[in-house]
Amino acid sequence: MNRFEDQVAVISGGADGLGKGIAERIALEGGRVALFDVNPHTLDQTVNEFKNRGFKATAYVVDVSSEEMVSQSFQQVEASYGKIDIMVNAAGIVGPTNIKITEYPTDAFDKIYSINLRGSFLMTKYAIKAMEKANYGRILLIASIAGKEGNPGMVGYSATKSGVIGLVKGIGKEYAETGITLNGLAPAVIKTAMNEKTSPEQLAYMTAKIPMKRLGTVEEVAAISTWIVSKECSFSTGFVFDISGGRATY
Ligand SMILES: NC(=O)c1ccc[n+]([C@@H]2O[C@H](COP(=O)([O-])OP(=O)(O)OC[C@H]3O[C@@H](n4cnc5c(N)ncnc54)[C@H](O)[C@@H]3O)[C@@H](O)[C@H]2O)c1
Repeated sequence: MNRFEDQVAVISGGADGLGKGIAERIALEGGRVALFDVNPHTLDQTVNEFKNRGFKATAYVVDVSSEEMVSQSFQQVEASYGKIDIMVNAAGIVGPTNIKITEYPTDAFDKIYSINLRGSFLMTKYAIKAMEKANYGRILLIASIAGKEGNPGMVGYSATKSGVIGLVKGIGKEYAETGITLNGLAPAVIKTAMNEKTSPEQLAYMTAKIPMKRLGTVEEVAAISTWIVSKECSFSTGFVFDISGGRATY
């Protein structure tokens, strides 16, 4: 399949985990991927790996919580490739886990807010500014089941992911009469590096809640995500898709 031939995709958090998996699938199907990531080391590794496989990939060191970096990097992508068709925001952190709000450090809350929610806002704002010029775009914000249901022990994560769902629902409707769609994805636990930092108790709680009783895979996330950002997904916007092994009931 060559669903993304001649398309340009910006993927934040593209150096690792879900962002990398989604970028790989877009590149495999002919798209050019501009990877935004705050970690220059993994970013270099991933872009080199992609180039060695013949993919069209470029690295941008970006902290999604910085408006200046986000805005400048979108300008650079547009200047280099002339347009942006797809934006996937997969950058995110989990923050403290297995801890009640009374012990949750306020500066940790401010940090997770800046990356998970402010970052999603900024990435969407500048993606839409670019996409409006061609009146076409597909935006996917990675939220979480924690944002739908609220996971105890991780208030910063649950609250910021609920905020991402709010962005999807509100902005999706703002642009519903244009060629730009904006959707979200709410995964349950997926096997990536992010979970290596999660406490075993927190991980056991989250896995036990999944009726399929297993973690999801990056490939499964990439499969649904690339459909959502393809031309084929044309009558869905402002919606949060599920990939939770049966955990979500709405
Ligand atoms: N893995 C899961 O179980 C799971 C479940 C639900 C939702 N999610 C969400 O999916 C997204 C990706 O998670 P993942 O599991 O791939 O994590 P990951 O830690 O494997 O990868 C995240 C990537 O984002 C980058 N990043 C972190 N902060 C950044 C910043 N400020 N600016 C730019 N890049 C930054 C990291 O360097 C890393 O490359 C996150 O938003 C996460 O909340 C993950």
